[in-house]
Amino acid sequence: MKKAVIYLFLSMLTLQIQAQSNANSKALPRVIILATGGTIAGAGESSTRAAYTAGKVPIDDLLNAVPQIHELASIKGEQIAKIGSQDMSIEVWLKLSKRINEIFKNNEADGIVVTHGTDTQEETAYFLDLTVQSDKPVVIVGAMRPSTAMSQDGNRNLLDAVTIAADPKSQGKGVVSAMNELIFDARDVTKTNTTGLSTFQSRNFGPIGLLYDGKVNYYYQSTRNPKEKFDVTKLTSLPRVDIVYGYADASPTTINAVVNDGAKGIVYAGMGNGNYNEAVGKALAEASKKGVTVCRAARAGSGRVTLENEVDDKALGFVVSDDLNPQKARVLLMLALTRTSDRDKIQQMFFEY
Ligand code: SIN
Repeated sequence: MKKAVIYLFLSMLTLQIQAQSNANSKALPRVIILATGGTIAGAGESSTRAAYTAGKVPIDDLLNAVPQIHELASIKGEQIAKIGSQDMSIEVWLKLSKRINEIFKNNEADGIVVTHGTDTQEETAYFLDLTVQSDKPVVIVGAMRPSTAMSQDGNRNLLDAVTIAADPKSQGKGVVSAMNELIFDARDVTKTNTTGLSTFQSRNFGPIGLLYDGKVNYYYQSTRNPKEKFDVTKLTSLPRVDIVYGYADASPTTINAVVNDGAKGIVYAGMGNGNYNEAVGKALAEASKKGVTVCRAARAGSGRVTLENEVDDKALGFVVSDDLNPQKARVLLMLALTRTSDRDKIQQMFFEY
């Protein structure tokens, strides 16, 4: 009899513990980590030398290296690509965006983290910002030092990214980048230094938040989240847009070459407020007349390119990038051209998105 009571008591206790642990694990937000490669997945031969190969370490090893993420969220990993982000392509962008939209549509996750090389991270971040049809958090993260380096930054950055993705405060913030304990808006963030850890900056407006002691703190929010995101569901490519760099005594050769090669748009990374010399101006005007959408951006690294100030944009049929840097202006122009070739409508997108 005594044995039976003890047995009953132990069974009830086990059931209670099980129920509690189920409740705990149910309570954890679900975060899916989509890996694309980059230095965060890089491996070198020595912990003290700079040489390494990007994108070598598989997703499972990345996740195992930061066991703390499992205390924050119920984690799943998927390998989308295994490349250095210099090799990032429109094909991978479309694959990534479609998968993220599918995950949210099927309610497979509460937040997503994308691990990515830092070289083109800002472009992917903005592409996703313009194409992900959900308010749920999407956080893009990378590292400046490979996973095998002494004081590598990837583990901390990954932990921070999961912290952000799992935090309900991150809802409705658009795609954000988590680097070096700071949170950046996808539209504004840019890589500013070739090798330094604090390379990610938002030169015009600063970070929107930061992490301290494992907590997410937001301070600002961009007003430039497009109301109607671009639908890429049926797309397998994007209209071609090339960037042409401005400099003293530049020749029109590159502009003519990209036009002859079939570009549908040109982002001109002009001097100062998006300026160009006479020869380049003539080539851009001819390109515009031929139906190529010309967007004046700036090589300066911060500030706006202003419409109709130093250039008669309306008469020439040019648009301006506002405060988007040339590589982000290219992303928006490619997507804008999937909708329209009307210059006024495209200009409006540059002022609103
Ligand atoms: C890359 O962008 O894949 C290489 C550089 C980096 O991730 O820091």
